[in-house]
Amino acid sequence: NKKLSVTDLREKKIHKEKLVMMTAYDYPSAKMAEAAGIDMILVGDSLGMAVLGYDSTLPVTIEDMVHHTKAVTRGAKQTMVVADLPFLTYTNVQDAIIHAGRLMQEGLADAVKMEGGTEIASQIEALVQAGIPVIGHIGLTPQAVNQLGGFKVQGSDPISAKRIFIAAKELEQAGCSGIVLECVPRVLAGLITEALSIPTIGIGAGAECDGQVLVLHDLLGLSEAYLPRFAKQYMDGYGQMVEAIAEYRKEVKEQAFPDHDHSFGMKKEWAEQLRN
Ligand code: KIV
Ligand code: NA
Repeated sequence: NKKLSVTDLREKKIHKEKLVMMTAYDYPSAKMAEAAGIDMILVGDSLGMAVLGYDSTLPVTIEDMVHHTKAVTRGAKQTMVVADLPFLTYTNVQDAIIHAGRLMQEGLADAVKMEGGTEIASQIEALVQAGIPVIGHIGLTPQAVNQLGGFKVQGSDPISAKRIFIAAKELEQAGCSGIVLECVPRVLAGLITEALSIPTIGIGAGAECDGQVLVLHDLLGLSEAYLPRFAKQYMDGYGQMVEAIAEYRKEVKEQAFPDHDHSFGMKKEWAEQLRN
């Protein structure tokens, strides 16, 4: 399986081949994503909630992102890795270059993702000019949760739908290689997908997008917390893991583990010597 590059993304769109993306945050999850044949791995700043226990993505730092991106790229050498620029690290062109540069040079990411529309067009242009591929992200942009008044569907009225549609066109114009559409009505996602030559990658955006992204912890059911409507659990990872840990606990208490098979032996005469 050949590693995708951003130049392959338009091709996939033309051939109507769905792009499959998922998040990973460390070496083992990256290995699993690659073993399963995922097209693109996202080191999302959802890291903040999924792995670090924060209530939002706002506390995630560039250090956090570099640290986890390094682990992911060590685990998935044959898969395209996109890393999120965290909150407040791309409010101007210079900051965007410095921080995206760190994700590329230290994290070895293949591209960066940033949230926002028209207001970040000049940062996107500067990154693309510097040779850093950019994936856009519009609709529900979790770094703006305080501005949006919560995690809710965006673009369900004509004015905000129009604003998101225009933002999508401008992101393509600015040089984005693809755009994540989060929590928008499927009709709007379909219209944007039709209007662009770069792929759309949906999450809570319906089936018309060119690709799909899901958070690792949602798809494996790794969190016992609330699951958003758009997330689909493919296993009860949390339940199965707690069960396994509880079984381990029980066996140690009952002295069923460690047993003969999990212990090391010693020559009989040496054992005798030790006893005497
Ligand atoms: O951080 C993340 O996981 C994301 C996806 C939800 C697109 O940005
Ligand atoms: Na994110």
